[in-house]
Amino acid sequence: MIAGGRPINYLRISVTDRCNFRCLYCVPSKKFSVIAHDRIARYEEILRIARLASDMGITKVRITGGEPFVRKGIFSFLERLCTIDGLRDISITTNGSQLNPQRIQTLREMGITRLNFSLDTLDPAGFKRITGRDRFNNVWNAVLAAHEAGMEPIKINAVALRGINDGEIPKLAGLTLKYPFHVRFIEYMPMGKSDVENGHQILTDEIREKIESAHGRLMPVPRDADDGPAKKFQLEGAPGVVGFITPISSHFCSECNRLRLTSRGTLRPCLLNDYEKDILGPLRAGASDTDLAEIIRAALVKKPKDHHLEAGKPDEIPVSHMTSIGG
Ligand code: 5AD
Ligand code: SF4
Repeated sequence: MIAGGRPINYLRISVTDRCNFRCLYCVPSKKFSVIAHDRIARYEEILRIARLASDMGITKVRITGGEPFVRKGIFSFLERLCTIDGLRDISITTNGSQLNPQRIQTLREMGITRLNFSLDTLDPAGFKRITGRDRFNNVWNAVLAAHEAGMEPIKINAVALRGINDGEIPKLAGLTLKYPFHVRFIEYMPMGKSDVENGHQILTDEIREKIESAHGRLMPVPRDADDGPAKKFQLEGAPGVVGFITPISSHFCSECNRLRLTSRGTLRPCLLNDYEKDILGPLRAGASDTDLAEIIRAALVKKPKDHHLEAGKPDEIPVSHMTSIGG
Protein backbone atom coordinates (compact mmCIF):
# COMPACT_ATOMS: atom_id res chain seq x y z
CA MET A 1 0.00 0.00 0.00
CA ILE A 2 1.26 3.46 -0.84
CA ALA A 3 0.11 6.66 0.88
CA GLY A 4 1.54 10.13 0.28
CA GLY A 5 4.42 8.58 -1.67
CA ARG A 6 5.57 6.24 1.11
CA PRO A 7 4.85 2.53 1.33
CA ILE A 8 2.75 1.55 4.34
CA ASN A 9 3.74 -1.88 5.63
CA TYR A 10 3.18 -1.55 9.34
CA LEU A 11 -0.08 -1.94 11.26
CA ARG A 12 -0.40 -1.23 14.97
CA ILE A 13 -3.33 -2.98 16.56
CA SER A 14 -4.66 -1.85 19.92
CA VAL A 15 -6.51 -4.81 21.44
CA THR A 16 -7.86 -2.97 24.48
CA ASP A 17 -8.09 0.52 25.93
CA ARG A 18 -7.84 -0.88 29.46
CA CYS A 19 -4.71 -0.87 31.52
CA ASN A 20 -3.81 -1.94 35.03
CA PHE A 21 -1.42 1.03 35.34
CA ARG A 22 -2.24 4.73 35.57
CA CYS A 23 0.81 6.41 34.09
CA LEU A 24 0.81 10.13 34.78
CA TYR A 25 1.41 11.06 31.16
CA CYS A 26 -1.10 8.64 29.74
CA VAL A 27 -4.28 8.65 31.81
CA PRO A 28 -5.93 11.36 33.89
CA SER A 29 -6.03 10.91 37.67
CA LYS A 30 -9.72 11.81 37.63
CA LYS A 31 -12.33 9.26 36.63
CA PHE A 32 -12.36 8.54 32.92
CA SER A 33 -14.50 6.31 30.80
CA VAL A 34 -13.50 3.08 29.12
CA ILE A 35 -15.02 1.67 25.97
CA ALA A 36 -18.01 -0.66 26.49
CA HIS A 37 -17.14 -4.32 25.87
CA ASP A 38 -19.52 -4.75 22.95
CA ARG A 39 -17.92 -1.78 21.16
CA ILE A 40 -14.46 -3.33 21.36
CA ALA A 41 -13.45 -5.29 18.28
CA ARG A 42 -13.62 -9.03 18.91
CA TYR A 43 -10.54 -11.12 18.20
CA GLU A 44 -12.25 -12.73 15.22
CA GLU A 45 -12.95 -9.27 13.78
CA ILE A 46 -9.39 -8.06 14.34
CA LEU A 47 -8.05 -11.19 12.65
CA ARG A 48 -10.19 -10.58 9.59
CA ILE A 49 -8.90 -7.03 9.28
CA ALA A 50 -5.32 -8.21 9.86
CA ARG A 51 -5.65 -10.84 7.12
CA LEU A 52 -6.96 -8.26 4.68
CA ALA A 53 -4.25 -5.78 5.60
CA SER A 54 -1.67 -8.50 5.07
CA ASP A 55 -3.11 -9.21 1.61
CA MET A 56 -2.72 -5.49 0.93
CA GLY A 57 0.98 -5.40 1.80
CA ILE A 58 1.17 -5.09 5.58
CA THR A 59 4.06 -7.27 6.78
CA LYS A 60 4.63 -5.97 10.29
CA VAL A 61 2.16 -5.87 13.13
CA ARG A 62 2.60 -4.47 16.60
CA ILE A 63 0.08 -5.29 19.32
CA THR A 64 -0.57 -2.52 21.81
CA GLY A 65 -3.18 -1.43 24.37
CA GLY A 66 -3.86 -0.05 26.96
CA GLU A 67 -2.08 -3.12 28.23
CA PRO A 68 -2.56 -5.99 25.78
CA PHE A 69 -2.00 -8.71 28.38
CA VAL A 70 -4.95 -7.62 30.51
CA ARG A 71 -7.34 -8.71 27.75
CA LYS A 72 -8.74 -12.23 28.21
CA GLY A 73 -7.78 -14.76 25.57
CA ILE A 74 -4.83 -12.72 24.31
CA PHE A 75 -2.53 -15.72 23.97
CA SER A 76 -4.82 -17.69 21.67
CA PHE A 77 -5.45 -14.52 19.64
CA LEU A 78 -1.69 -14.03 19.24
CA GLU A 79 -1.30 -17.63 18.21
CA ARG A 80 -3.86 -17.20 15.44
CA LEU A 81 -2.35 -13.89 14.38
CA CYS A 82 1.02 -15.61 14.00
CA THR A 83 -0.46 -18.04 11.47
CA ILE A 84 -1.37 -15.27 8.99
CA ASP A 85 0.89 -15.91 6.03
CA GLY A 86 2.13 -12.48 5.00
CA LEU A 87 2.94 -11.25 8.51
CA ARG A 88 6.63 -11.79 9.07
CA ASP A 89 7.15 -9.57 12.07
CA ILE A 90 4.80 -9.50 15.07
CA SER A 91 5.79 -7.54 18.15
CA ILE A 92 4.12 -6.33 21.34
CA THR A 93 4.24 -3.17 23.43
CA THR A 94 3.58 -3.94 27.08
CA ASN A 95 4.03 -2.58 30.59
CA GLY A 96 5.43 -6.01 31.46
CA SER A 97 3.37 -6.45 34.60
CA GLN A 98 1.55 -9.58 33.40
CA LEU A 99 4.60 -11.34 32.00
CA ASN A 100 6.56 -14.13 33.66
CA PRO A 101 9.15 -16.61 32.33
CA GLN A 102 6.52 -19.14 31.33
CA ARG A 103 4.40 -16.66 29.37
CA ILE A 104 7.52 -15.29 27.72
CA GLN A 105 8.42 -18.81 26.65
CA THR A 106 4.94 -19.24 25.16
CA LEU A 107 5.42 -16.04 23.13
CA ARG A 108 8.77 -17.27 21.87
CA GLU A 109 7.27 -20.55 20.78
CA MET A 110 4.73 -18.63 18.70
CA GLY A 111 7.58 -16.78 17.02
CA ILE A 112 7.16 -13.48 18.88
CA THR A 113 10.61 -12.30 19.93
CA ARG A 114 10.25 -8.55 19.86
CA LEU A 115 8.95 -6.86 22.99
CA ASN A 116 8.78 -3.17 23.86
CA PHE A 117 8.50 -2.45 27.56
CA SER A 118 7.24 0.87 28.84
CA LEU A 119 9.56 1.67 31.73
CA ASP A 120 10.33 5.25 32.72
CA THR A 121 12.53 4.75 35.75
CA LEU A 122 14.69 2.21 37.57
CA ASP A 123 13.71 3.59 40.95
CA PRO A 124 10.89 1.66 42.67
CA ALA A 125 9.48 4.75 44.43
CA GLY A 126 9.60 6.81 41.24
CA PHE A 127 7.97 3.93 39.41
CA LYS A 128 5.07 3.96 41.85
CA ARG A 129 4.72 7.71 41.49
CA ILE A 130 4.59 7.52 37.70
CA THR A 131 2.46 4.41 37.19
CA GLY A 132 0.38 4.55 40.35
CA ARG A 133 1.41 0.95 41.05
CA ASP A 134 4.09 -0.50 43.29
CA ARG A 135 5.25 -2.98 40.64
CA PHE A 136 8.78 -2.02 39.71
CA ASN A 137 10.38 -5.33 40.68
CA ASN A 138 7.70 -7.27 38.91
CA VAL A 139 8.28 -5.35 35.67
CA TRP A 140 12.07 -5.34 35.89
CA ASN A 141 12.02 -9.12 36.47
CA ALA A 142 9.91 -9.50 33.32
CA VAL A 143 12.47 -7.48 31.33
CA LEU A 144 15.29 -9.68 32.64
CA ALA A 145 13.29 -12.85 32.01
CA ALA A 146 12.70 -11.76 28.39
CA HIS A 147 16.42 -11.11 28.03
CA GLU A 148 17.33 -14.49 29.53
CA ALA A 149 14.85 -16.20 27.22
CA GLY A 150 16.72 -14.71 24.26
CA MET A 151 14.10 -12.17 23.19
CA GLU A 152 15.78 -9.79 20.77
CA PRO A 153 15.67 -6.89 20.49
CA ILE A 154 14.25 -5.80 23.83
CA LYS A 155 13.22 -2.17 23.69
CA ILE A 156 12.57 0.02 26.70
CA ASN A 157 10.45 3.11 26.13
CA ALA A 158 10.83 5.95 28.61
CA VAL A 159 8.86 9.18 28.44
CA ALA A 160 11.17 11.87 29.79
CA LEU A 161 9.52 14.27 32.23
CA ARG A 162 11.14 17.20 33.98
CA GLY A 163 10.97 16.98 37.76
CA ILE A 164 9.54 13.46 37.54
CA ASN A 165 12.09 11.10 36.02
CA ASP A 166 14.76 13.36 34.52
CA GLY A 167 17.20 12.26 37.23
CA GLU A 168 16.81 8.70 35.92
CA ILE A 169 17.83 9.46 32.34
CA PRO A 170 21.55 8.63 32.78
CA LYS A 171 20.73 5.39 34.62
CA LEU A 172 18.30 4.28 31.93
CA ALA A 173 20.80 5.08 29.19
CA GLY A 174 23.44 3.27 31.25
CA LEU A 175 21.48 0.02 30.82
CA THR A 176 22.80 -0.10 27.27
CA LEU A 177 26.35 -0.46 28.63
CA LYS A 178 25.39 -3.74 30.28
CA TYR A 179 22.57 -5.15 28.15
CA PRO A 180 21.85 -5.25 24.40
CA PHE A 181 18.64 -3.30 25.04
CA HIS A 182 17.37 -0.42 22.96
CA VAL A 183 16.53 2.30 25.46
CA ARG A 184 14.41 4.90 23.72
CA PHE A 185 13.58 8.28 25.16
CA ILE A 186 10.27 9.68 23.99
CA GLU A 187 9.37 13.35 24.05
CA TYR A 188 6.14 13.83 25.94
CA MET A 189 3.22 14.52 23.63
CA PRO A 190 0.26 16.47 25.01
CA MET A 191 -2.52 14.00 24.31
CA GLY A 192 -5.96 13.67 25.77
CA LYS A 193 -6.27 15.03 29.26
CA SER A 194 -3.31 13.71 31.21
CA ASP A 195 -2.15 15.51 34.35
CA VAL A 196 1.26 16.24 32.90
CA GLU A 197 1.81 19.81 31.81
CA ASN A 198 3.89 21.16 28.99
CA GLY A 199 6.43 22.41 31.56
CA HIS A 200 7.31 18.78 32.23
CA GLN A 201 8.29 18.21 28.64
CA ILE A 202 12.00 17.69 27.94
CA LEU A 203 13.22 17.78 24.37
CA THR A 204 15.81 15.44 22.91
CA ASP A 205 18.77 17.85 22.87
CA GLU A 206 18.53 18.22 26.62
CA ILE A 207 18.06 14.48 27.20
CA ARG A 208 21.09 13.85 25.06
CA GLU A 209 23.22 16.30 27.02
CA LYS A 210 22.30 14.63 30.28
CA ILE A 211 23.35 11.25 28.89
CA GLU A 212 26.59 12.52 27.38
CA SER A 213 27.64 14.34 30.52
CA ALA A 214 27.23 11.09 32.48
CA HIS A 215 28.52 8.54 29.97
CA GLY A 216 30.48 10.29 27.21
CA ARG A 217 29.74 10.72 23.55
CA LEU A 218 26.73 9.16 21.82
CA MET A 219 27.77 7.93 18.40
CA PRO A 220 25.17 7.71 15.62
CA VAL A 221 24.18 4.21 14.50
CA PRO A 222 23.29 3.77 10.81
CA ARG A 223 19.59 3.25 10.14
CA ASP A 224 18.17 -0.07 8.97
CA ALA A 225 15.65 0.00 6.16
CA ASP A 226 13.04 -1.25 8.62
CA ASP A 227 13.72 1.25 11.37
CA GLY A 228 10.90 3.15 12.99
CA PRO A 229 11.08 6.80 13.92
CA ALA A 230 13.80 6.44 16.60
CA LYS A 231 17.15 8.09 15.96
CA LYS A 232 19.76 5.64 17.18
CA PHE A 233 23.07 6.10 19.00
CA GLN A 234 25.58 4.06 20.96
CA LEU A 235 27.82 4.75 23.90
CA GLU A 236 31.41 3.65 23.52
CA GLY A 237 31.68 -0.12 23.90
CA ALA A 238 27.95 -0.53 24.60
CA PRO A 239 26.09 -3.64 23.44
CA GLY A 240 22.82 -1.71 23.52
CA VAL A 241 21.40 1.26 21.66
CA VAL A 242 20.12 4.62 22.88
CA GLY A 243 17.24 5.91 20.79
CA PHE A 244 15.33 9.18 20.65
CA ILE A 245 11.77 9.50 19.51
CA THR A 246 11.18 13.13 18.64
CA PRO A 247 7.55 13.84 17.81
CA ILE A 248 7.97 17.42 19.06
CA SER A 249 11.46 18.59 18.15
CA SER A 250 11.68 16.95 14.76
CA HIS A 251 8.95 15.85 12.41
CA PHE A 252 8.96 12.37 11.04
CA CYS A 253 5.50 12.25 9.48
CA SER A 254 6.80 11.97 5.95
CA GLU A 255 8.74 8.84 6.91
CA CYS A 256 5.94 7.30 8.96
CA ASN A 257 5.03 3.91 7.54
CA ARG A 258 2.25 2.89 9.88
CA LEU A 259 -1.47 2.63 10.17
CA ARG A 260 -3.35 2.09 13.44
CA LEU A 261 -6.37 -0.01 14.26
CA THR A 262 -7.93 1.16 17.52
CA SER A 263 -9.67 -1.15 19.97
CA ARG A 264 -12.97 0.44 18.88
CA GLY A 265 -12.37 -0.85 15.38
CA THR A 266 -11.49 2.42 13.72
CA LEU A 267 -8.53 2.98 11.44
CA ARG A 268 -6.40 5.89 12.48
CA PRO A 269 -3.85 7.05 9.91
CA CYS A 270 -2.01 9.30 12.37
CA LEU A 271 -1.44 9.15 16.12
CA LEU A 272 -1.53 12.91 16.40
CA ASN A 273 -4.58 13.65 14.37
CA ASP A 274 -8.05 12.68 15.54
CA TYR A 275 -9.29 11.66 12.11
CA GLU A 276 -10.49 8.03 12.26
CA LYS A 277 -12.36 5.84 9.83
CA ASP A 278 -14.74 3.23 11.19
CA ILE A 279 -14.12 -0.26 9.84
CA LEU A 280 -15.80 -2.34 12.57
CA GLY A 281 -19.26 -0.85 11.89
CA PRO A 282 -19.26 -1.84 8.21
CA LEU A 283 -17.69 -5.21 9.08
CA ARG A 284 -20.50 -5.96 11.55
CA ALA A 285 -23.06 -4.79 9.01
CA GLY A 286 -21.84 -7.48 6.60
CA ALA A 287 -19.32 -5.69 4.38
CA SER A 288 -17.42 -7.87 1.89
CA ASP A 289 -13.63 -8.16 1.86
CA THR A 290 -13.59 -5.86 -1.16
CA ASP A 291 -15.59 -3.22 0.73
CA LEU A 292 -13.30 -3.51 3.75
CA ALA A 293 -10.18 -3.23 1.59
CA GLU A 294 -11.66 -0.05 0.14
CA ILE A 295 -12.12 1.36 3.66
CA ILE A 296 -8.47 0.59 4.48
CA ARG A 297 -7.39 2.35 1.27
CA ALA A 298 -9.58 5.35 2.04
CA ALA A 299 -8.08 5.68 5.53
CA LEU A 300 -4.59 5.69 4.08
CA VAL A 301 -5.39 8.51 1.71
CA LYS A 302 -5.88 10.60 4.85
CA LYS A 303 -2.37 10.00 6.14
CA PRO A 304 -1.13 13.52 6.79
CA LYS A 305 2.27 14.85 5.79
CA ASP A 306 2.64 16.92 8.95
CA HIS A 307 1.40 17.53 12.48
CA HIS A 308 1.21 20.69 14.52
CA LEU A 309 1.98 19.74 18.10
CA GLU A 310 5.12 21.84 18.34
CA ALA A 311 3.27 24.91 17.17
CA GLY A 312 1.26 24.76 20.40
CA LYS A 313 -2.08 25.32 18.75
CA PRO A 314 -4.44 24.05 21.43
CA ASP A 315 -7.31 23.34 19.03
CA GLU A 316 -5.08 20.95 17.11
CA ILE A 317 -4.03 18.88 20.08
CA PRO A 318 -5.70 15.48 19.83
CA VAL A 319 -8.26 14.75 22.52
CA SER A 320 -8.02 10.97 22.37
CA HIS A 321 -6.28 9.15 25.17
CA MET A 322 -3.22 7.14 24.29
CA THR A 323 -4.90 4.10 25.88
CA SER A 324 -7.58 4.13 23.22
CA ILE A 325 -5.16 4.57 20.31
CA GLY A 326 -2.35 2.33 21.41
CA GLY A 327 0.66 4.66 21.06
N1 5AD B 1 3.64 11.12 25.21
C1 5AD B 1 4.65 10.30 24.81
N2 5AD B 1 4.60 8.96 24.94
C2 5AD B 1 3.53 8.41 25.53
N3 5AD B 1 3.20 7.13 25.79
C3 5AD B 1 1.98 7.10 26.37
N4 5AD B 1 1.49 8.36 26.49
C4 5AD B 1 2.44 9.21 25.97
C5 5AD B 1 2.53 10.61 25.79
N5 5AD B 1 1.55 11.43 26.15
C6 5AD B 1 4.09 6.00 25.46
C7 5AD B 1 4.21 4.93 26.51
C8 5AD B 1 4.40 3.67 25.70
C9 5AD B 1 4.08 4.03 24.29
C10 5AD B 1 3.10 3.12 23.65
O1 5AD B 1 3.57 5.36 24.31
O2 5AD B 1 5.30 5.09 27.33
O3 5AD B 1 5.70 3.20 25.77
FE1 SF4 C 1 -0.88 1.72 30.77
FE2 SF4 C 1 1.04 2.13 28.98
FE3 SF4 C 1 -0.72 4.08 29.51
FE4 SF4 C 1 1.09 3.37 31.36
S1 SF4 C 1 1.52 4.26 29.33
S2 SF4 C 1 -1.13 3.71 31.71
S3 SF4 C 1 1.29 1.20 31.05
S4 SF4 C 1 -1.18 2.14 28.57
